[in-house]
Amino acid sequence: MNRYWTLARRPPPPWPDADTFALVEAPMPQPGPGQALTRTIYVSLDPYQWGYKRRGVEPEGAPCHARTVAQVVESNIDGLAPGDFVFCTNGWSEYGLMGEGVARPGYMVPRKLDPAQGRLSQAVGVLGMLGLTAYAGMILQGDPKAGETVVVSAASGGVGQIAGQLAKLKGARVVGIAGREEKCRFVTGTLGFDACVSHLSPTFAGDLAAACPAGVDVYFENVGGPVFEAVLPLFNPGSRMTICGLIAHYGDTAGDAGAAERAAAEARGATVTNLFVGDYVEGHHDAFLADMVPWVAEGKVKYLEDIREGLGAIPAAFAEMLKGGNFGKMLVRVSPDPTLQRSRPSGTSKR
Ligand SMILES: NC(=O)c1ccc[n+]([C@@H]2O[C@H](COP(=O)([O-])OP(=O)(O)OC[C@H]3O[C@@H](n4cnc5c(N)ncnc54)[C@H](OP(=O)(O)O)[C@@H]3O)[C@@H](O)[C@H]2O)c1
Repeated sequence: MNRYWTLARRPPPPWPDADTFALVEAPMPQPGPGQALTRTIYVSLDPYQWGYKRRGVEPEGAPCHARTVAQVVESNIDGLAPGDFVFCTNGWSEYGLMGEGVARPGYMVPRKLDPAQGRLSQAVGVLGMLGLTAYAGMILQGDPKAGETVVVSAASGGVGQIAGQLAKLKGARVVGIAGREEKCRFVTGTLGFDACVSHLSPTFAGDLAAACPAGVDVYFENVGGPVFEAVLPLFNPGSRMTICGLIAHYGDTAGDAGAAERAAAEARGATVTNLFVGDYVEGHHDAFLADMVPWVAEGKVKYLEDIREGLGAIPAAFAEMLKGGNFGKMLVRVSPDPTLQRSRPSGTSKR
């Protein structure tokens, strides 16, 4: 049998509760011609998944969407054998099909993984879509120059930690914004940002201004709302803002998320660019991996993961992440990772 989480009822505003998801048991899917059956190892939990549920992209009763790392169990696909590892989109599910004719919301073309490139879990993180997001948003869009001041919100999260380190590699002065003190210490102490301020502090806006004495040239926006409002007065002439995400708005039930931020930043003379990572997969994925694999291997880009254990942990971990409870990229390991028996990885915050 296969087990997976489904959306039990259309989410109530603003965040998921105990009745939002249901665990379902169903017969094991059988791979047809051109398809493979895979066993999920890592499920990536990302803020955008809440948007899928809020906007009705996911049909009720189907496995909740997620990017995953999995191992092939049975294959009718040339070049893919049992035991191979793949990036795929099994969702919040123990097993899933990939290949010809498989269609579901958020389905992405699977990719065979080379475990020598990095930890398997990194294929849904720094060496996957999140790494590409940071790379596209910071290097290709923000394009920071040596000596410029770059601000990154949600700085200890899955995207933010990479975006800030890429700006450091370009010679910029980088200021992070994060929640708890523990996260701020990680951002400066481990990731090497020049400063990090907490948006939870009552003196947040003043702290940010003090950390950016020469103003802000590039703002990598993951959050919006009050965090954005503190950055706004600091924009320099000619500044650039990349809107990667607006997590503060993901619980909103009305309004055009980001419209107010865009208008206010443009009124101050900033150039504002929306980021959609999908636009960069075809033209930039290979160049991104060619850069990022050695940066990670050499420790030039560090990456913290927050890995929870077991399929049952998914709904609570997801709800926690939406409220800042994750410390690093949030993942759930739903079955053993065979590569970990060979070597013990560093850079994971295990709970
Ligand atoms: N444009 C694209 O193609 C693309 C692709 C991938 C991701 N994204 C977006 O990138 C953003 C970051 O994603 P991620 O995967 O890196 O998430 P993440 O940072 O791992 O997790 C979310 C973090 O956001 C912070 N946060 C949550 N609510 C907040 C609030 N109301 N005010 C301030 N901070 C808040 C929390 O950190 P603190 O505790 O530090 O506050 C939380 O840990 C998201 O908005 C996501 O949707 C966009």
